[in-house]
Amino acid sequence: MVGVSLRGKPQLLPLEESLTELARLAETAGLEVVGEATQRLDRPYPKTFVGPGKLEEIKALVEEFQADVVIFDDELSPRHLRELENYFGQKVRILDRTALILDIFAQHARTREGALQVELAQYEYRLPRLTRAWTHLARQTGGGGGRAGRMGGVGLRGPGERQLEVDRRDIRRRMANLRRELEKVRAHRQRHRARRRKNRLPVVALVGYTNAGKSTLLNRLAAADVYVADQLFATLDPTTRRVELPGGHLALFTDTVGFIQKLPTSLVAAFRATLEEIAEADLLLHVVDITHPHVSAQAEAVLRTLDDIGAGHIPVLTVLNKIDLLPSPEAASAALASFPRAVAISALTGEGVPRLLQKVGERLYETYEPVTVELPYEEGGLIALFHEMGQVEEAQHHRGGVRIRGRLPGRLVARYAPFVVREGGQTPSDEEGESDA
Ligand code: GTP
Repeated sequence: MVGVSLRGKPQLLPLEESLTELARLAETAGLEVVGEATQRLDRPYPKTFVGPGKLEEIKALVEEFQADVVIFDDELSPRHLRELENYFGQKVRILDRTALILDIFAQHARTREGALQVELAQYEYRLPRLTRAWTHLARQTGGGGGRAGRMGGVGLRGPGERQLEVDRRDIRRRMANLRRELEKVRAHRQRHRARRRKNRLPVVALVGYTNAGKSTLLNRLAAADVYVADQLFATLDPTTRRVELPGGHLALFTDTVGFIQKLPTSLVAAFRATLEEIAEADLLLHVVDITHPHVSAQAEAVLRTLDDIGAGHIPVLTVLNKIDLLPSPEAASAALASFPRAVAISALTGEGVPRLLQKVGERLYETYEPVTVELPYEEGGLIALFHEMGQVEEAQHHRGGVRIRGRLPGRLVARYAPFVVREGGQTPSDEEGESDA
């Protein structure tokens, strides 16, 4: 692994921590980490990213450990990649964090849409970086729809790779096909989303840094579900569960892709459609691993990504997970002090989960938030809904629509976000973002 800290460029995590994370990513992808090299630089070298002396050091390490792969913690430009491949020769694969994350996503894609998205992102990443070393991988995943998951360990090179020649045109054609397939899958999902909306069950999305415990929590919540998980959703979208809240209300809880610092921009773009589902949720549960040494940096990375994908306006309930691992009650109070309005739980033991559901119920059904909205008459549905479910304090009709001042149940606030008026202005509200964090 090669890590570089750039002077004057603020990083969320210190270099060593970022490398620890990179090592975990590498292990997840099926690689064994044997050594690392680091360098402090003002800026990356234009040709080889690190300097010539550092390159020699890395080459010596590669030879000593017979390493197959060199992974850079930062995204390499096409030129960097070419130069580094020339330098290290055919036997050594050069990867960067982006390629590694893409590979892990490919291995873990659970839904058809996810598999298509990640395959497309891989091609987008590779197209400008096409060298001989990449082509065989392109062909491997290019054989049929949704096969990105078969890419296997990044360190592996199948036999006969030399015969495989996939040129840029083939890749472009394949990308066009993938886009078309994605359109179809999305149209399908849109229809189901529309149905969900019609049923008006509020949607709670679990977000959080990778490994925070989102899936564990969702499983625990689903186990508590007195109803059998909605079969229709179970097949179409295995990560959405219907859960009964205290008081008998129902809500849909949905798991989402884990966030990570330096999440490659190409990946954020590729997953935008999926992430947009987050942006349509009524409430976000931000699951935080309270035992992680860099818990604040992780939480910050998540909130930043939420902003990036246009979900900054949705109310957030922070969930401090893994409290069963905390050594003492004092440690617990210290953790809680930095996240004042959070709920502490253990998804593993179930401790705190009833209180979490209680809070979710309150946030969705019992709290009313003051808002002023400017609704055009085309939004007749929302106007009616405000009168039906909210408390209207003042309604001023004018030519294009109506301005309503009043209070809305927490679960509906997100739906009105595009129409919120601030005092003296018309900017959509984004101040809800981390209101509970
Ligand atoms: P990504 O899929 O990477 O986004 O991770 P995730 O947030 O879905 O985390 P996941 O549920 O897969 O949990 C990650 C690890 O943390 C697993 O090994 C879990 O067993 C463990 N874990 C989750 N919740 C708890 C908890 O409350 N206590 C303890 N001790 N371990 C937990």
